[in-house]
Amino acid sequence: MSHAVVDLRSDTVTRPTSAMRDAMAHAEVGDDVYGEDPTVNRLQATVADLLGVEAALYVPSGSMANQIAIKIHTQPGDDVLIGEGSHNWLYESGAAAVISGVQFTICGEGGLYDADQLHAAIKPDNHHFAPTRLACVENTHNRGGGRIWPRAQVAALLEAAATHRLATHLDGARLWNASAATGVPVDELARGFGTVSVCLSKGLGAPVGSLLCGPRDLIHRAHRMRKLLGGGMRQAGILAAAGLHALAHHRTRLVEDHANARHLAERLATGLHVDLASVESNIVLADLPDGAPGADELVTRARARGVLVNAIGPRRIRLVTHLDVDRTACERGADELLAACG
Ligand SMILES: Cc1ncc(COP(=O)(O)O)c(C=O)c1O
Repeated sequence: MSHAVVDLRSDTVTRPTSAMRDAMAHAEVGDDVYGEDPTVNRLQATVADLLGVEAALYVPSGSMANQIAIKIHTQPGDDVLIGEGSHNWLYESGAAAVISGVQFTICGEGGLYDADQLHAAIKPDNHHFAPTRLACVENTHNRGGGRIWPRAQVAALLEAAATHRLATHLDGARLWNASAATGVPVDELARGFGTVSVCLSKGLGAPVGSLLCGPRDLIHRAHRMRKLLGGGMRQAGILAAAGLHALAHHRTRLVEDHANARHLAERLATGLHVDLASVESNIVLADLPDGAPGADELVTRARARGVLVNAIGPRRIRLVTHLDVDRTACERGADELLAACG
C-alpha cells in the first residue's frame, strides 16, 4: 500500500481545508490600501481584541511584522537584545541590519534569557557602545524546540526592560501554541510588551498572514512602514477570511498537535536522543546518536521513505506537528526515521 508523504518539516506546510477555501471564496472584499476591505478590518479588530491591544495591522508575513516592529522601536546604530537562535536574528535574511541598521546582542542559551542576563547585556552609556534600545522575546521559541517562556521569567524580563527604558517586542508567531499548551489566554501572554506579532500561517493553517499588534500610535507608524516595504495589499480580504476561519476553527485543536508531538518524541526517543522534558508544544528536536548517519544524510534517507524533516545542525533534526499530520502519520514518521537511522 502506498502512503501519502508525512511532512514534518514545519507547521507552515499545511494546505487550506475546503471549509477555509469556501470562506475565502465568499469573503467580502475592498481595497485595503484605502482601508476599505471589511474582512481585513474585521480580522484586525478580532486579533486586537484577542490580544487585548488597541490596534492590529495585517501584514503578509511574520518576518515583515517582526521587521516593522524593530524599525518602529529603534534608530540606526541601536543595539537589540534577543535570545539565541531567534527568528528575527537568524532567519530573516539579516533584515534588521538592512532595514533598521541595528545590531543584535544574543542573550542566554537555547532561545530564552532572563532578567539578570538582560541587565548584564545592557551597554554602558558611553560613546564606545551602541545604545541598547529594544529587547525581543520569541514565544514559543522555534529553534529552541517550541519552548514556552515561563510567565514569571517574562514578567521579570519586562520589568528589567522597563528599568532600562527598553522597548519590547514579542515574536508570537506561535503564541497560539503557547496559550493552548498552558491554558493561559493570549492576551495575558501578550501583556506588557510594546508590540506583538502573531502568525496565522503556522499552526493555525492559514495560507498567508500575520498581524503586528500594539498601541494605536505605534501601529499607525507600522502602517507607514508596511507601505514603505511594499506590504500593502489590495483585496486582501480573500486572505484575511482564511485567517478568521483559522482563528475560529483551528485554535482549540492545537492541543492535538501538542499531544502528537509528545507521542512522536516518545517514539523517537527509543532510538534517538530526545529531551522529552523540553517538548512543550508542537516542535520536537532530536539528536542523532553515535553510529547514526549525519542529519543531512538522514533527511535524504527519510525522504526516500516518504517522511520529510529538517536538519538544523550537523546531528540535529527538527520535526513539527500540525493540522495535516494526524497520530497515525506521526507514528509512521517516527518509525521510518528510526528505520532510516539503522
Ligand atoms: C518564530 C517565528 N517568527 C517568525 C517567523 C516568520 O514567519 P514568515 O515565514 O511568515 O515570515 C517564523 C517562521 O517560521 C517563526 O518560526
